[in-house]
Amino acid sequence: MILVTGGAGFIGANFILDWLRNGGDAVVNLDKLTYAGNAENLAALEGDSRYRFVCGDICDPALLQHLLAELQPQAIVHFAAESHVDRSIFGPGEFIRTNIEGTFTLLETARAHWGTLSATGREQFRFLHVSTDEVYGSLAPEDPPFTETTPYQPNSPYSASKASSDHLVRAYHHTYGLPTVTTNCSNNYGPYQFPEKLIPLVISNALAGKPLPIYGDGMNVRDWLYVGDHCAAIRSVLAGGRLGETYNIGGWNEMPNLTIVRTICTLLDELRPDAAGPHERLINFVKDRPGHDRRYAIDARKIERELGWRPAETFATGIAKTVRWYLDHAEWVAHIQSGAYREWVDKNYGQRQ
Ligand code: NAD
Ligand code: DAU
Repeated sequence: MILVTGGAGFIGANFILDWLRNGGDAVVNLDKLTYAGNAENLAALEGDSRYRFVCGDICDPALLQHLLAELQPQAIVHFAAESHVDRSIFGPGEFIRTNIEGTFTLLETARAHWGTLSATGREQFRFLHVSTDEVYGSLAPEDPPFTETTPYQPNSPYSASKASSDHLVRAYHHTYGLPTVTTNCSNNYGPYQFPEKLIPLVISNALAGKPLPIYGDGMNVRDWLYVGDHCAAIRSVLAGGRLGETYNIGGWNEMPNLTIVRTICTLLDELRPDAAGPHERLINFVKDRPGHDRRYAIDARKIERELGWRPAETFATGIAKTVRWYLDHAEWVAHIQSGAYREWVDKNYGQRQ
């Protein structure tokens, strides 16, 4: 079996569903169920003997020791993190705790457990650390995309905390020989993404006739990847990634935010026309994010060359699937937009007008 951390969040939930759909081994999902974790995402696995949920914190060494001893997993796939840049600007503390201390605690317990395994067990064990392209900092328009050797230059408390966790993973391989692999992926989108992130926020606001907030001039560029492609890439790295290596994962799909928002508006105009007029009328330029990175782009040639992975979705196919998913899951969105979500919206957008 494999131990997944943070599997009740956006990418983790997609990963577990895809993993089991693809005939993967049993999964235990350790998740603290923060505001971003939602057990509903895995409701389809209720009664499935291959899946077990454990509510707990990756900062809890006793729980981790107990789980590793009991489960004897072949691999740990580590997604658990605080993941939203704007939240890290308002309150970095939780990011330092979960992303740095949590990853450290997981590494320490994994190292101790790995030391108890047989030679074969040690050889087969994997610690896969899921990270982000934001650790590389921001690119100028003419810069080449990030490669695995681009120097780290994190700019937000979120990316700095992820960079720290990447360095710890690297050190645990280099110093102790722990069999680690790290992935650095670009912006994901798709089903189950919490509507604090750009794409689901724009879809749900547009459907509710609310303003679509665009930070700054809307020309910040991200490299968008459909979440199912990210999950497939992680499976490839787990199966064949070289130990101690990092693999960049991206969609070869750079786009400015304004283009993303306009594309969503056009799709909604077709699929859910609004009598009040085209959805683009809701676009609202607001005060920029402090320290806002201008451009991210991933050079994903290493993972293609070594493991044969390439994204299967284009942005056109991925975004159409995503918009349809949100249209078909209005109840899921409504559940998430609880009191705590509304408080976040007031806090983040109240001061941008
Ligand atoms: P998310 O915020 O949707 O989910 C994070 C999950 O981690 C939640 O289920 C939450 O409950 C859980 N969690 C948080 N703190 C925890 C703790 N202390 N102990 C146990 N569980 C805890 O995040 P996501 O977007 O699914 O991202 C998953 C991972 O992928 C993160 O490590 C993130 O840095 C990385 N990543 C995300 C993207 C993206 O575009 N979303 C891109 C590249 C990399
Ligand atoms: O690059 C990978 C990263 O992508 C992940 O590591 C992070 O976990 C994930 O949250 C994401 O970070 P971003 O900051 O790029 O994602 P977000 O969806 O918050 O913002 C995408 C872009 O849209 C960014 O340029 C900011 C802008 N934006 C965002 C929001 C929420 C807006 O213009 N308006 C908004 O309301």
